[in-house]
Amino acid sequence: MTRRRVGVLISGRGSNLQALIEAQMGRDYPAEIVLVLSNVPEAQGLARAEAAGIPALVVDHKRFANRADFDAALDRTLKQAGVELVCNAGFMRLHTESFVRSWWNRHLNIHPSLLPAFKGLHTHARVLDEGVRITGCTVHFVRPEMDSGPIVAQAAVAVLPDDTPESLAARVLEAEHRLYPHALRLVASGAVRVEGERVVGMSQIGAQPPIFSPPI
Ligand code: GRF
Repeated sequence: MTRRRVGVLISGRGSNLQALIEAQMGRDYPAEIVLVLSNVPEAQGLARAEAAGIPALVVDHKRFANRADFDAALDRTLKQAGVELVCNAGFMRLHTESFVRSWWNRHLNIHPSLLPAFKGLHTHARVLDEGVRITGCTVHFVRPEMDSGPIVAQAAVAVLPDDTPESLAARVLEAEHRLYPHALRLVASGAVRVEGERVVGMSQIGAQPPIFSPPI
């Protein structure tokens, strides 16, 4: 089996990166992380990459005059490493349209809400403010508009009456750690593809029982 070569973009803690690292230890996993890039020199995720023996580099956005130059450096570095698929995992910079076009349908992001609801930052606090009963997380292909693009996979998480943004974030994060490896497997193996701005090819996957919140 040839594994797709993956580059992971991070800015911080890197717990989703860790989930992807653990997934690729499976012998039949169709993707292999060949490079981790952080725009933040102190990102905790860099140590996770090093511990796993994965090349990790810092491309500090502060050293670039503008977003276009920064994204051009990212693009070059990814291509030099022979990356085929890019995974944003807590990467906190918006991309230029040119970068997004350069990795069109080869670039994933994970977001901690059921998109298209609650794009942007502070999702869990906003979910609680709105009194939403079910939230979750989404892995999607990246498009120029923030947190939008064809959806590969989602996980639903029930909101509990006494949740705080932190307690909810922790439960959604557990779901993220299962969802991202699953979604990357679907994309890297070629099981799914983008057609007319929707992800298709999952017809073999059966229905799941609904989640009720509050429970029935
Ligand atoms: C995750 O909640 C992810 O959905 C969001 O940023 C957070 C990153 O966490 N985009 P980590 O760095 O993967 O631990």
